[in-house]
Amino acid sequence: MYLTTEEEGILNGEAGPVAERMFRLLVRLGEIYGADKMIPVGSVQVAGVSYKSIEEPGTTFLEDIAAQGAKVKVLTFLNPAGMDLEDWKKLGFPEAFAKNQMRIMNAFKQMGIVITATCTPYLAGNLPRFREHIAWSESSAISFSNSVIGARTNREGGPSALAAAICGKTPNYGFHRWEERQPSIKINVETDLVFDSDFGALGYTLGKQIKNKIPYFTGIKNADTDQLKALGAAMAASGAVALYHVEGLTPEADLVKKDNLETITVTKKDLQDAYAKLNTGKEPDIVILGCPHASLREIGSVAAKVQGKHLRKPLWVCTSRMMKEAADRMGYTQTIEKAGGHIVADTCMVVSPIEDMGFKTTGVTSGKAANYLPGFCKQSVCFANLDALVEAIS
Ligand code: F3S
Repeated sequence: MYLTTEEEGILNGEAGPVAERMFRLLVRLGEIYGADKMIPVGSVQVAGVSYKSIEEPGTTFLEDIAAQGAKVKVLTFLNPAGMDLEDWKKLGFPEAFAKNQMRIMNAFKQMGIVITATCTPYLAGNLPRFREHIAWSESSAISFSNSVIGARTNREGGPSALAAAICGKTPNYGFHRWEERQPSIKINVETDLVFDSDFGALGYTLGKQIKNKIPYFTGIKNADTDQLKALGAAMAASGAVALYHVEGLTPEADLVKKDNLETITVTKKDLQDAYAKLNTGKEPDIVILGCPHASLREIGSVAAKVQGKHLRKPLWVCTSRMMKEAADRMGYTQTIEKAGGHIVADTCMVVSPIEDMGFKTTGVTSGKAANYLPGFCKQSVCFANLDALVEAIS
């Protein structure tokens, strides 16, 4: 791989030991995947933020490099943390967990990372442009930025994203290259997608089948950005899809080569089967929405659905701090709280320790959450559309 004189210098320790260590990691990755050179990144998003995921070794590592003076060079955001960073006490998060979570946030802050803990950075102040090279590591955000925005990122791990943030660069391979963004399978959707959860069900069933291929969708008549984020998140979770194209909807769909591709057809029966597979519970103890983190439009729909109700079970709507503030201003927070629910910022149902908070069955509209909750949080799942879940806890 070609390296500039300045980059050679970093490898020789001229920018300090942390930069050297981080740059070595990027060079190694580049060598493994056949990169020709390093390219600058416009922004970074780092996963591995919850104490539940990285535990003591990850926390000590972050504190250690922060203490050595590591600083990021580009706009860097964080994935959800393990708790609402402001309202954790009110929501019942364990105190010992909260203490450790704050150690992680402080280490990131010391490095100059924006303490915005969200899987939808593009809704919270980190919006890449079309064809911008970025290094993001949350799978649903990777899928959204690659597919819906047309920015370019590989599936970074927490360490490689952090290395890209500290060095401001990433190796040029994979989805950074146009030739690697071409579809490898065609998906013909022969059923109407009515509810947002239908997009999650579609993503779940496809991810299982196509693994890390790049699908080109036909037959999706319309979808808003919330529905596309639900589709991409589910495909990334049940498979490893990091980029998809939708005829007429996503920015690269007209530009890519889509002749002579193997084709899969998805019918109503496939969606019904996905709902059946994802439903492992009978009645939810809690309903948690916002996977990926809810947009203001989604929070508004929840508020409209629960207005005037008295919910029998807890309801959380997970979102970024920025969206929560907008929801406060719009009165959505008040409406949801009056019904007995909460808008929970900075965290989500998967990375927070809900299994230690007494919940056994969680209701979700998200194909990604439904896929992960049994394994990560020991939950049975009620996967359904918003109307049905609100009904179930009313
Ligand atoms: Fe985001 Fe958590 Fe879902 S990180 S995509 S809300 S599992």
